[in-house]
Amino acid sequence: MNETIQKNLNYKKYVVDSKLQYFKPHASKIEKTFAEEISSSLNNDSKFITPKFFYDKKGSDLFEKICTLPEYYPTRTEIEILKNLQADLPSFIDESFRLVELGSGASVKTRLILDVFTKIQQSTEYFPIDISEILTESSEQLLRDYDSLHITGIIDTYEGGLEFLKNYDEKKNLILFLGSSFGNFSPVDGKNFLQKINSTMKSDDLFLIGLDLVKDSKVLESAYDDSQGITAQFNLNVLSRINDELDADFDLNNFSHHSIYNEEDQRIEMYLKSLVNQSVIISKSNLSLNLEKNELIHTEHSHKYTLDQIRTLLTSTGFKINHIWLDDNSFFSLTLASKN
Ligand code: AVJ
Repeated sequence: MNETIQKNLNYKKYVVDSKLQYFKPHASKIEKTFAEEISSSLNNDSKFITPKFFYDKKGSDLFEKICTLPEYYPTRTEIEILKNLQADLPSFIDESFRLVELGSGASVKTRLILDVFTKIQQSTEYFPIDISEILTESSEQLLRDYDSLHITGIIDTYEGGLEFLKNYDEKKNLILFLGSSFGNFSPVDGKNFLQKINSTMKSDDLFLIGLDLVKDSKVLESAYDDSQGITAQFNLNVLSRINDELDADFDLNNFSHHSIYNEEDQRIEMYLKSLVNQSVIISKSNLSLNLEKNELIHTEHSHKYTLDQIRTLLTSTGFKINHIWLDDNSFFSLTLASKN
């Protein structure tokens, strides 16, 4: 008990009951980071907002809506692959594994893995790591549906969550990183992040990563600019969040959603386009922002990969590949890897 407290000094622990507890960094840590990061990322000639800030409650809900859009193929394709993977997974895990998930969100896809865990284990431990409080809602729902589940939620960034996990205990972990969330990283940052995951893992731990594959640009572009405008709302919502949390005065009518596929760099690029010359005050970031008509604020990169690139990426960051699963169209991939 004492030891746990010692290890997680930066976190406040909330015990709900014997099956549910949360760890959350002290509030000041989060708020300061948001104001500071926005202050430096918008105080620049090439302006950007980091995509992790999309996920306040509203943004997380909008993202869940994106996942059900007809144009947004990644989620349903990954679900299809997970359903096939269910039959293969028991040969890789046993009673001694805990499930850890980076960016668990609503934990919808996690259920397909939990189905397998709870079938072969008497008691299953799940550590969701997510920056959004949506984690608390999804955890309560999971506990209603799975009797043998014990949840420890970590409400923090990926990096914070991995730091939390490092040297936590001797139990084996299967670390999930689904949805091609990895695609947000630049190639250099992505490699560093995989190395970080690798160095967090013990020798028997496993890593399952979902990555989106290169495909026809029309399919990609409509996935990130849907006909119902939900992706546009999702993109614009980050400005509302800044208004609410950092006392800013963005007028959302003065911006539009803009996204294109960059073939050369194999990525969708998302921006918020300023529709007029305007200035915006962001009080808590101490910033008065001037934007020209047609100026772009970059909000997201979503990288796409070839199978060869996936193999190289993982092997060059200390992994060996156990298995790669694909859907029938080769739209999406799930790769199980372990420490080399
Ligand atoms: C959550 C990063 C995987 O890149 O497809 C969806 C986010 N942005 N539509 C993606 C997103 C716009 C999504 N990831």
